[in-house]
Amino acid sequence: TLRAVVRGVGHHLPARVVPNSWFEDKIDTTDEWIVSRTGIERRHFAAEGETTSGMAASAAEKALKMAGIAATDVDALIVATSTADLTFPSAATMVQDRLGMTGGFAFDIQAVCAGFVFALAQANALIVSGQATRVVVIGAETFSRILDWEDRGTCVLFGDGAGAVVLEAEDGQGTNDDRGILATDLHSDGRHRDILYVDGGVSTQTTGLLRMQGKEVFRHAVEKLAQTAHTSLGKLGLTGDDVDWIVPHQANLRIIKSTAHKMGVGMDRVVVTVQDHGNTSAASIPLALSVGVERGQIKRGDLVVTEAIGGGLAWGSVVLRW
Ligand code: ACO
Repeated sequence: TLRAVVRGVGHHLPARVVPNSWFEDKIDTTDEWIVSRTGIERRHFAAEGETTSGMAASAAEKALKMAGIAATDVDALIVATSTADLTFPSAATMVQDRLGMTGGFAFDIQAVCAGFVFALAQANALIVSGQATRVVVIGAETFSRILDWEDRGTCVLFGDGAGAVVLEAEDGQGTNDDRGILATDLHSDGRHRDILYVDGGVSTQTTGLLRMQGKEVFRHAVEKLAQTAHTSLGKLGLTGDDVDWIVPHQANLRIIKSTAHKMGVGMDRVVVTVQDHGNTSAASIPLALSVGVERGQIKRGDLVVTEAIGGGLAWGSVVLRW
């Protein structure tokens, strides 16, 4: 059985750190409100000229270094993003060029906050079907570019950054003890597109900013995240009890806590970075994986569940053994 095993992980955060207090003299908000409703204390914002592809390449370089794999030996590179540098070409081909990866193929995936989970599932499909042996999967975003700085309900929630993992095919036994991706579960439902979206784009000849009905998103998130995690674990005959780490999309501490609670997993088995990064959309899970490894939380052999939901709505989960 071919398995997609994580060989390396890395991340990149812009140098500029913005604490909640920065918003206090710009909009009607307080550090106390933001912390108590979201768990967010600070976020990083990209500097002028700092791009999604630049951060993505930096994260990928670190992940490749940890893996001990040269960019020229990579077969496929996927960038999950909703904030690519240009309409086209893809951010992925720009990263390919920055890494000096002259072979293989590269493309973007757009599933907003669920993008990294979708990208992991596609990378897994490429590997188990024999179409690729080494795949770099990146989540990278510059959401600061699509925020409405006058909307206090959204502008305090998001941050910029990038994270990357390097996957390599390995022959497994076909059991739950194998390292690598063990199960995936993806969903979307376009009927809910108007609760989280950007009100502009190329084909409408507008630019647009992020719009969200926070309460509605919250309601769907709490219900759908626990459900998808339950489904992907169920495919393996596993439950929350078997999980070493939940690495959730980092949108909001209250969503993270209630999902863990529904899965029967204590917060001592959840990687939380939302206080430092805010919501970095598709970048949040690979950022949390990288920080979780750096902190010594996630170790080789651990059973890890990632889950995410975002605009679309699109949501899903991936179970892997680290
Ligand atoms: N500072 C102070 N007050 C605020 C702020 C702010 N930054 N933002 C909103 N408020 C006010 C509102 O205007 C409202 O005031 P009103 O009652 O006078 O009208 C009051 O706070 C309550 O607003 P609600 O929206 O009901 O507050 P809620 O408790 O639902 O929290 C929040 C808002 C944090 C956005 C919450 O709904 C949420 O977390 N939703 C999930 C959204 C999310 O995480 N989205 C990320 C993208 S999708 C994803 O990644 C999962």
